Amino acid sequence: MSVLRAQGLGKLYSSKGSVVYQALEDINLHVEAGEFVGIMGPSGSGKTTLLNLLATIDRPTSGQIEINGVNPSKLSDKKLALFRRRELGFVFQDFNLLDTLSIKDNIILPLVLEGMAPHLIEQRLNPLAEWLQITKLLGKRTYEVSGGQKQRAAIARALIHEPSLVLADELTGNLDSKAAKDVMDTLKEMNERLKATVLMVTHDPFSASYCQRIVFIKDGKLFSEIRRGSNRQAFFQQILDALSVLGGNYDDIPLTRA
Ligand SMILES: Nc1ncnc2c1ncn2[C@@H]1O[C@H](COP(=O)(O)OP(=O)(O)OP(=O)(O)O)[C@@H](O)[C@H]1O
Ligand SMILES: [Mg+2]
Repeated sequence: MSVLRAQGLGKLYSSKGSVVYQALEDINLHVEAGEFVGIMGPSGSGKTTLLNLLATIDRPTSGQIEINGVNPSKLSDKKLALFRRRELGFVFQDFNLLDTLSIKDNIILPLVLEGMAPHLIEQRLNPLAEWLQITKLLGKRTYEVSGGQKQRAAIARALIHEPSLVLADELTGNLDSKAAKDVMDTLKEMNERLKATVLMVTHDPFSASYCQRIVFIKDGKLFSEIRRGSNRQAFFQQILDALSVLGGNYDDIPLTRA
């Protein structure tokens, strides 16, 4: 079953009404339920633009998107907000947690907004927090925990309403290599144990090596795709090879982390 079907997606940006820039062109992308897919490409190739379209934050200029059989562009703004909250989970590079709330209140916010009963919220929160090893941190504020802990809290928030699709943009971008590894191990476990479907943009080959499949984009178009065998180390090398074929600025790639 496809969780995501994007067909012929295009995005034109126009600034000041006239200058037009084609950021994406004819993107076809299907993601099956339970898949863990990475998107890679040089800076400016359109990764965030694509993720924003799939996240229904922005609308495509051409083409169709279906998430769980629903075309979000056919929904009213109010229904779209609800759809986004129920079907999608987001994890961002800068965590996007609210500093005025405790870690717990950040995580449960989507359920509070839905008006779910507090005891049902606790039933969802507790096993999730236990699994992510953040139970002891639930009462703390965001500035009292580490980057890796913040990202695990953000993962809990993304998962708490059991979304059909988790979208992540450079989620390890602000983490050191140890925290990045912990977060990627968590994401992999989430994909395997909870059968969560994950689509992740990253420029980090180490993080990407956790994916089952990687789609490369260049100049707004699909360029190539690779699938992982059983060995993550070998996949890491395959990713580096694909990136060197792709070109673009990858001078900052750490070559030794896998
Ligand atoms: N709001 C906008 N208006 C006009 N052009 C834009 C807008 N947002 C992005 N672009 C352009 O579209 C192209 C794709 O941008 P995008 O942010 O999707 O790239 P990216 O692949 O995410 O890059 P990075 O790896 O640096 O995050 C770039 O050339 C960018 O300058
Ligand atoms: Mg980007």
